[in-house]
Amino acid sequence: LSKIEVKLNEIPEGKNMTFKWRGKPLFIRHRSPKEIEVEQAVTLAELRHPELDSDRVKDPKWMILIGVCTHLGCVPISNAGDYGGYYCPCHGSHYDSSGRIRKGPAPLNLEVPPYEFINEDLVIVG
Ligand code: FES
Repeated sequence: LSKIEVKLNEIPEGKNMTFKWRGKPLFIRHRSPKEIEVEQAVTLAELRHPELDSDRVKDPKWMILIGVCTHLGCVPISNAGDYGGYYCPCHGSHYDSSGRIRKGPAPLNLEVPPYEFINEDLVIVG
């Protein structure tokens, strides 16, 4: 399927759920106010692949990512690593809860796929 519909009210705050989209893992994370605050405070100068959190989300509560490490393509583990977002166990890449690479060999942030909110409980990715 080229598009996937996800019901957001089934994803509790603080949790990341994994779906499958175009043969790849799709992460949808319901961020807590604290996580949002932390990511919004990160400056471009701190980042290897400089992108503001506000440019990576449409609604800061929902972080939508392709779950493929930009190093060599393993699937990162959620709510893990030094920045609390994602940790790739293959060679130790640490991503924050905006999916941005913060430490380790990966060169780029986790990719944000195209998506749109249909209403506050439903998103279509693709
Ligand atoms: Fe993720 Fe190498 S594939 S760190």
